[in-house]
Amino acid sequence: MDRIRIVGGRPLSGTIPISGAKNATLPLMIASLLTEGTLILDNVPRLADVITLQRILANHGVDIMLSGKRAGDSAYQGQTMHISAARIVDTTAPYELVSKMRASFWVIAPLIARMGEARVSLPGGCAIGTRPVDLLIMALERLGAKIEIDGGYVVARAPNGLKGNEIVFPKVTVSGTHTALMAASLAHGTTVIENAAREPEIKDVADCLNKMGAKISGAGQSRIVIEGVSKLSGARHSVLPDRIETGTYAMAVAMTGGDLTLAGARPELLQSALDVLVQAGVEVQSTNVGLRVARNGHGLAPVNVTTQPFPGFPTDLQAQLMALMTRANGTSHITETIFENRFMHVQELARLGAHIHLDGETATIEGVDKLKGAPVMATDLRASVSLVIAALAAEGETMVNRVYHLDRGFERLEDKLAACGAEIARISS
Ligand code: EPZ
Repeated sequence: MDRIRIVGGRPLSGTIPISGAKNATLPLMIASLLTEGTLILDNVPRLADVITLQRILANHGVDIMLSGKRAGDSAYQGQTMHISAARIVDTTAPYELVSKMRASFWVIAPLIARMGEARVSLPGGCAIGTRPVDLLIMALERLGAKIEIDGGYVVARAPNGLKGNEIVFPKVTVSGTHTALMAASLAHGTTVIENAAREPEIKDVADCLNKMGAKISGAGQSRIVIEGVSKLSGARHSVLPDRIETGTYAMAVAMTGGDLTLAGARPELLQSALDVLVQAGVEVQSTNVGLRVARNGHGLAPVNVTTQPFPGFPTDLQAQLMALMTRANGTSHITETIFENRFMHVQELARLGAHIHLDGETATIEGVDKLKGAPVMATDLRASVSLVIAALAAEGETMVNRVYHLDRGFERLEDKLAACGAEIARISS
């Protein structure tokens, strides 16, 4: 299993190109099941989760073609993916595939909407929380689907198609909103979603669906209205930049000191996180290529943060911020409100010498003068990158184990950091 070796203590400086967003790419690829036409996606990141989803879509009969390199392409040029779901030959998403990546459960929405039937394995447990799918099922039932659970599978039927309706989410859910958006796009009549998720990835999917002929208004706000249409067509869409990758590298240079340009970043997609960095004493500046983040010579101030749905502070940057606060001049408090078990990185950061005390959903971080390298274990995607951030500032060597977690959501992380001065390398075994 691959590991990553890091020797800390070097400031970061240079330019990091930001990749397309994982959490937009996955639902966009799934939306291809809604049409017989070809969906062309540009700026697709090279991630393990994208490859897993390609296999899942292929199992339904989808053809996927990746464009080869073009003259003049930069080393980090996003991929162009041509996805054709002209013929859906199988409406079952098997456990072997779905269990590898939770978001694949979302195929249930386009399958039931277009084919009138779907049999999709329940996704099962997850390291960061129970993560039920009851609100996704509620949304589909509100649109008239008949749903039963059978042998670990969700079996959904709507032989006469789905019917528009009002869907009120009792709590903000990204997966629930994606599911309702895709299903309602082909339903008969009007659907109104209340208390919808406002994440930028939701807006990106809605923009793409509207290019395919859907009639969606209000995406990015809490109330979304969808006029169902009978058919959707192919389209071309470029995946928005990854705000979590952007925030991660911003936290990394804040940790090590230095001066980074994050090319292609869109600051407005992570304003709350950038505001927290400014509060901590980090320089943050929008530029004509993206974002400049720097910290030179002065320490970090402690901050108190609570994770919230967008536009609040994203839970997917919580672990990275915690790593940063281990070096702050004072005490910080971080409260996690989205997932009930998203502190797996605390014990691993403690191995590097961090002082963190957990009390329910709040972590109290006492800043220390220095961290010291040690072998650590990655547990989930964002927890693993928080260990990388801490290791970049720790004295001596850190070995991060189980880096397959990182490959799920960060494209060429060690190459991007090494190009900016980090002593980091992958050790394949
Ligand atoms: C998406 O997960 C992201 N994943 C997550 O990123 C992200 O942390 C999360 O949204 C919140 O921003 C993708 O986009 C692929 P939710 P999702 O539905 O959609 C509960 C990463 O690191 N809930 O908004 O699964 C749920 O348990 C990943 O890239 C129900 O109770 O999140 C959670 O507590 C991790 N019932 C809360 O709602 C449901 O039916 C928010 O979940 C659905 C969700």
